[in-house]
Amino acid sequence: MKMKRKLCVAVWGMSLLTACSIPKAGAPEWFENAVETSGRQLLYMAEQLENVPDTACFPRSVKEDGSYRLENAKDWTSGFYPGSMWLAYDLTGDEALAKEARTYTNRLEDIQYYTGNHDIGFMMFCSYGHALRLKPESKDKQILVNSSESLCARFSPEVGLIRSWDFGDWSYPVIIDNMMNLEMLFWASEQTGNSKYRDIAIAHADKTLKNHFREDMTSYHVVSYSVPSGKVESKGTFQGYSDSSAWARGQAWGVYGYTMCYRFTKNPVYLEAAHKIVRFIMNNRPSEKDYIPYWDYNAPDIPNAPRDASAAAVTASALLELNGYTDDKKLSDDYTEYAESILKQLSSPEYLAKDKENKGFILLHSVGSFPHNSEVDVPLNYADYYYLEALKRYKELKKFC
Ligand code: GLY
Repeated sequence: MKMKRKLCVAVWGMSLLTACSIPKAGAPEWFENAVETSGRQLLYMAEQLENVPDTACFPRSVKEDGSYRLENAKDWTSGFYPGSMWLAYDLTGDEALAKEARTYTNRLEDIQYYTGNHDIGFMMFCSYGHALRLKPESKDKQILVNSSESLCARFSPEVGLIRSWDFGDWSYPVIIDNMMNLEMLFWASEQTGNSKYRDIAIAHADKTLKNHFREDMTSYHVVSYSVPSGKVESKGTFQGYSDSSAWARGQAWGVYGYTMCYRFTKNPVYLEAAHKIVRFIMNNRPSEKDYIPYWDYNAPDIPNAPRDASAAAVTASALLELNGYTDDKKLSDDYTEYAESILKQLSSPEYLAKDKENKGFILLHSVGSFPHNSEVDVPLNYADYYYLEALKRYKELKKFC
C-alpha cells in the first residue's frame, strides 16, 4: 500500500505537469488501515487452515470454544472466504491473496450442479464471479452459467418464485435473503443471451415485493406459499425476534437486492423500494452517531441487544450503489455519508480485529441466528465479505489511488 501511495504521488505529479487530468486522491488513514488489516487477516487465516481437509475447509465463524466453525462446500456461506480474498486482492494487488482465493474458489467447482438451496448465488457468484472478473480461467464462465441453471431448477412457474429452503414445515418457503441470489441470474442472461434467467429473477423480485413488505417497508423474513395456487400461506420469521419484527439483516438484504435489481432492469419500482427500505434503516439507527444496527430493530433488550455488523456491511455496500441512482444530490450525498459512517465505525477498534486475533476474521460483533442461539456476537465470513465489497465501492467512488 505504501508503494502504491508513492506511485500515486508520482502519477499525480505527472498529471499536474501535463495538466490534462484530475489528480486522484490518496486514501485516508482509516481506509488504508482497514484494507491492510483485512489482507493480513485473510492470509493469516489461510495459514491457520493449511492442514484442514478439503471436505470441510470453509471458515464461517468462531465457535463458543474458540475453534473455527468450518463448513463444507454445500454450506450457504462457502463462497464468502474465497470472495473476500478476491476483493482484498482487488484492493491491495497482493498476489498471495489471489493465489489463496483461486485455491478456495476451485474447491467449489462441484457446487455448480447443487440444487439443495437458493444460496448458490452467494456460494458461486461471490467466489467464481470475482475469479472470472479478476483472473479468469477457462472453466469459470460455464461454471457460473451451470450454477444459474441449478438455481432456476428451484423456480416453480405456478408459484412464480424460487423456493428458498427444503427444510421446515412450510409448503413453499421464500426468504428475503433470496433476493441476493438473483444477481447471478441477471448476469447469466447478459452473458448467454438467454432471457430465461432474467425472467425468473424478475418474477421472483416482483412477487417478493408484493408479499414480503409491510406498510413501513420492513420485511417479513419468511413468506410461505401454497402449491400449486401460489397464494400466500403464512408470513413470519425464522431468524428474527418475532413474526412482526424487522430482522436487521433482512432489511439489509432487501435494500441490496432491490438496488441490484434496479441496476439490471432500470425498473423504477425496484428503485423506489430500495429508497424506502433504506429510509427505515437510516431513521432507526441506534443513535445519531451510531450506525451499526441491533440484530433486530424490535429486539426487546435494546440498548443491550447484540449488534449485527453483517447487516451494517451489507447496507454500506448497497448504499454505495444506490447513491448513483438518484439525481437528488443531497440524497446521494446522504447515502454516501451514511455508508462512510458505517465503514468508519466498522473500521474502528470496536469492530475491526487486531492483527492475528479473531481467528483471522476481519470484523467482530455479528449475529447469525439469535432465536437459535447460534452465532451470537461473533465474526461471520459474510460480514467480512460485504465490508470488503463496500470498501472497494468506496475506493472507486472517491477515486483513491
Ligand atoms: N441467508 C442467511 C442469513 O442471512 O442468515
